[in-house]
Amino acid sequence: MTKQVDTDGKLAEFTQLVERALDGALPARADSTDCDFGRERLLDAMAYSLHTPGKRIRPLLLLCAADAVGADATAFARFACGVEMIHAYSLVHDDLPAMDDDDLRRGQPTNHVVYGEGMAILAGDGLLTHAAVVMMEPVAQAASSSQMTVAREIMIAAGCDGMVGGQAADLMAEGREPQLDLLAGIHRRKTGALIWAAVRGGALLGGANEKDSRALDAFGRRYGLAFQIADDVKDEVAPTEVSGKRPGGDREAGKMTYPSLLGVDESIARCRTELAAAIAELDVLGDRADALVALAADSIAPALAGRGS
Ligand code: IPE
Ligand code: IPE
Ligand code: MG
Ligand code: MG
Ligand code: MG
Repeated sequence: MTKQVDTDGKLAEFTQLVERALDGALPARADSTDCDFGRERLLDAMAYSLHTPGKRIRPLLLLCAADAVGADATAFARFACGVEMIHAYSLVHDDLPAMDDDDLRRGQPTNHVVYGEGMAILAGDGLLTHAAVVMMEPVAQAASSSQMTVAREIMIAAGCDGMVGGQAADLMAEGREPQLDLLAGIHRRKTGALIWAAVRGGALLGGANEKDSRALDAFGRRYGLAFQIADDVKDEVAPTEVSGKRPGGDREAGKMTYPSLLGVDESIARCRTELAAAIAELDVLGDRADALVALAADSIAPALAGRGS
């Protein structure tokens, strides 16, 4: 009981910390360059997608991983905002008419619906580049060599051998006969890579030893896949009040998803198995990983709610 309260309290504290850090994470309005024309509108579009209420899973994973290895995670909140900015950019571009063509995200009109396609593309670009700026600011509590390593790994995970590559594969797979190996590969890259990098980043910044680091690494990989399977299921079954999106978009677009290959129930079973395996990887950390485990389980539960046991 006390442990539950501690874990909940820690997650609430980290969430508040991330939200506060996000509030101050974008470039200041008053810092004008030689010409301000267009800057306010661009910053509005960036802020629109960064500040709409998301789960903040990626920065929270980073903080929880650092906490699990015994570091003072609060020191990494601003750095972790960089990962959320990369995620926010990926959503803005993912929703564009040329990609998933979605007009609803987090229960609100998508960026291009509000600001137009051109500005939405630029808002995504702005979020991505500013993420790099934020992650390169020296973090006093981290050795600069490990911070550099983490920033580099996060950028690799976001790029053509990670998220962007997965997004390319996701587009190319539209309308194709689903195939398990291909599908798992797409999901590991388009979603799993950044999630893994966030967990690994927290471990490295937090000074994890070899054994803890290996456990968190394995957790991050498996949880990332489980997370995207749950996202596929949500698209198929969750109402807008839960997902913040219009249901059935994947099916309409002919996306290769777990439900399109295995059906909803088998997808849920796979998701549960992968999540349980991910959490089991954290056994070596004992109760130090309680907050991370709770975060992982809570992030996936809504997609599976009311289905099976
Ligand atoms: C949605 O991510 C897109 C994926 C990569 C699966 P989240 O489910 O983390 O979305 P938010 O940030 O909470 O809105
Ligand atoms: C998104 O996958 C992966 C990203 C890198 C953004 P989806 O296209 O399934 O994400 P949602 O369902 O639109 O949030
Ligand atoms: Mg997509
Ligand atoms: Mg999408
Ligand atoms: Mg989806």
